[in-house]
Amino acid sequence: MSLSVESESALAAAAPKSQLVQLKHGRASVAVMRDQWFIAAMSSELKSKPLATKLYGTPLVLFRDKEGKAGALVDRCPHRNVPLSLGQVTDDGNLRCPYHGWQFDRAGACKHIPSLASESEAKARRALSLPTIEQQGFIWVYASTEPDCVPNKKPHEFGLLGKAGYSTVTQVVEAKGTMFSTIENALDVPHTAFLHRGLFRSESRGLHITAKVQRSKDRVIAEYVGEPRPTGLIARILSPSGGIVTHFDRFIMPSVAQVEYSIGTENHFIADSIATPLDDFHTRIYAVVSFRSRLPHFLIRPFVKPLALRVFNQDAIILERQTELIEAFGGEQFASTEIDVLGKHIWRLMRTAERGGEALVEDEANEVTLIV
Ligand code: FES
Ligand SMILES: [Fe+2]
Repeated sequence: MSLSVESESALAAAAPKSQLVQLKHGRASVAVMRDQWFIAAMSSELKSKPLATKLYGTPLVLFRDKEGKAGALVDRCPHRNVPLSLGQVTDDGNLRCPYHGWQFDRAGACKHIPSLASESEAKARRALSLPTIEQQGFIWVYASTEPDCVPNKKPHEFGLLGKAGYSTVTQVVEAKGTMFSTIENALDVPHTAFLHRGLFRSESRGLHITAKVQRSKDRVIAEYVGEPRPTGLIARILSPSGGIVTHFDRFIMPSVAQVEYSIGTENHFIADSIATPLDDFHTRIYAVVSFRSRLPHFLIRPFVKPLALRVFNQDAIILERQTELIEAFGGEQFASTEIDVLGKHIWRLMRTAERGGEALVEDEANEVTLIV
């Protein structure tokens, strides 16, 4: 069972195409990274009913067994290919198909076939399962349907979730865009002064700041040096008194976009956006924003979600328009400059992982100057 879908054929199916500007071949920044952890759902979404979702275009079903442990199967009954998510969880904690009642456990083993006398024959049938971990309020699945797969890594941890002195706000949103474009957008500084004018950053003040870019085999980090407190509404709410800004943008494999700001000594904020590729051009983001502020948190909390959603809606609209246009032209053709600081590194990490390799580690950090 493959988790892959052909990105080029998906593009080829999209019509109409531009007839004036022709590309050599349709291409989209889609990298299918197997053997990586992705969030399939929030814990609170999975109750006693099975829950359908998708990963890389493959339908999945999540359910809880008798002990409440979450499991993930490919959402296709091996008998006659009916969605298992239309079924029910039995008192024994098995997932029962709605068509002929075959039952499967969390590992995909067929536990019961109604009317069948031979138990060994039932055992020989199985549904495809994915390794699953539930932690910090999220259900993660490992992108592998290999039988007996044992992941050799752990999912991302939210470092400030539940930490004393911090408050956390969580939000789930979806964008019509490739996972690459959605993640690049979350870590892209130059668009914030323009697309989110006034909210995050205002118009350029002509200040030169330096981005120091560091790469390692599972991440790329940009540290922004010399940045005054952004003038937008969000920074003013988080840090009314201003102060020295420390700002990191991090991409952590396979799909974490992390923005960290410290303003002065008392105001600290980390926004993790964890992307799940539902299919080539649909990405779900689980956003976990933790903050500590000099101001009482009950004053800040009511602003965080609506402001973050406004920013995200602006991003979601532009990502959707971008995707529609890429479809119309039959592929991407991106022109970048050095202030597209992280994009090329993110893509290289994703592409290398798709091919099953490890990225080369460069010792040297490069520096890029931006005017903000
Ligand atoms: S299709 Fe699922 S039991 Fe027959
Ligand atoms: Fe944005």
